[in-house]
Amino acid sequence: MSATGAPKGNHLFIRKSVEQVQAESQNHGLKRSLGGFNLVLLGIGCIIGAGIYVMTGNAAANYAGPAVMLSFVVAFFACIFAGLCYAELASTMPVAGSAYTYSYTTLGELFAWVMGWLLVLEYGVAASTVANGWSGNVVSLLANFHIVIPPDLTTSFIQMKDGHFLMSGGANLLGALGILAVTGLLVLGVSESANVNNVIVLIKVGVLLAFIAMGVGFIHPINWQPFIPPNEGGFKYGVPGIFRAASVIFFAYVGFEAVSTAAAEAKNPKRDMPIGILGSLLVCTIIYMAVAAVLTGVVPFRELGVAAPIALAVDRMGIGWFAVLIKVGAVAGLSSVMLILTYGQTRVFFAMARDGLLPKAFATLHPKFRTPWIGTIILGVVISVAAAMLPIDILGDLVSLGTATAFAIVCISVMWLRSNRPDLERPFTAPGGIVTPILGIFFALVMIAPLIWDIISKAMKGDLIPATLLGGYILLGALIYIGYGYRNSRLGKGLPQIVTDQDAGPGPEQAIAGGVGKDHG
Ligand code: ALA
Repeated sequence: MSATGAPKGNHLFIRKSVEQVQAESQNHGLKRSLGGFNLVLLGIGCIIGAGIYVMTGNAAANYAGPAVMLSFVVAFFACIFAGLCYAELASTMPVAGSAYTYSYTTLGELFAWVMGWLLVLEYGVAASTVANGWSGNVVSLLANFHIVIPPDLTTSFIQMKDGHFLMSGGANLLGALGILAVTGLLVLGVSESANVNNVIVLIKVGVLLAFIAMGVGFIHPINWQPFIPPNEGGFKYGVPGIFRAASVIFFAYVGFEAVSTAAAEAKNPKRDMPIGILGSLLVCTIIYMAVAAVLTGVVPFRELGVAAPIALAVDRMGIGWFAVLIKVGAVAGLSSVMLILTYGQTRVFFAMARDGLLPKAFATLHPKFRTPWIGTIILGVVISVAAAMLPIDILGDLVSLGTATAFAIVCISVMWLRSNRPDLERPFTAPGGIVTPILGIFFALVMIAPLIWDIISKAMKGDLIPATLLGGYILLGALIYIGYGYRNSRLGKGLPQIVTDQDAGPGPEQAIAGGVGKDHG
């Protein structure tokens, strides 16, 4: 393995060579079998989840009111430019570990670590977030059959009430159980194959379209008045609220990078990548806006800050069988997103452990199932504890913050690679020259700014939980890198890279791309 750019004795900015990474990608033996339509389906499969089923209601109730429809447009822009940048890098280096590996080859080890640690938010914390939404929908579904789970077993330990965080005394054990079940499946080697993805897409889109079609008849246009409720201070409604809500429902788009990282499998990357990225984002944005319109039209927006807002809206429609249908679809869709995200987290840590930045346990394969079972179990336990303790509001904000920061780093990596390695063959180049990555960074900041502002203003009012969590997370990352990663980095020690990730399955996103998912289980 050749490395470049490492000052002797200090390997903070040591880089993997693009050629080595490209050679690794040859080993995947991926077939170029995906057309634009498959890529759109792939994207939708990863995108639709708790964002639309849960966060939309919370964003409308707490921040934007009916104008949450506009927030979706803002969040769409935050994805589209970064998405094109992802696609450029992915077509140049189609590898497992994706964004983490791109940073390792462009900005160096420190940024690779930062990216890996940010992906913990984008996958691991996101899985906890979805588990929260999943449990809310399971509770609501069971209620249709007169089964009541005590609220103490489905309410996270920390709860948000009237904009403040309180200790509830309960713990969302149901959500934790959901994650543990998914962990078990992952240890056995069950991952989502292309065919399963297509079925899940059908269910998820079908449920939302049915909700829209049936809900239109139950809209009370008065509920849309005022469309942009007057600001009540801070981010509560008004234009600031629209942007704050955008940073919340940005979560609803997380996962679309899966399309970008399938670049190695696109039949014609130049044509298919923009179709896949723009197509899946556009389809989801239109569906999301329509769902938001029905949701806020059926239920007054101030009442939507509940664990399962869509379920609440179908209950208000008062058609028993329809409510059950929608809730079953929601639970199925959210289960698949939990699986995809937890899977993604184990594979990011797998790639980092293989590079020596994390302990070997995360890359140790089970002799029979060929999965990184120890790492999967450790992560499953941590993710389930987070799901039990923290509310969806805090978790979702952390995911949006981490993902937007990761997007900005990806855009910077594109600019770095273009100016330092103009010679590389790029099957797909993001259109618009430098404007695209710059707009990507700008919109990432549009997402980040209200989140940071909110955390700071809450801290100044004595609500220290979000700031403590964020600070603790950054500190923990720094300590692990200083205490372990920096000392054990294979690249830093001049050791050859390990190129045997085949056995653990493909990278986080490639796993659900066409046909590379393995179903051992
Ligand atoms: N976009 C995914 C969701 O909404 C993560 O659940």
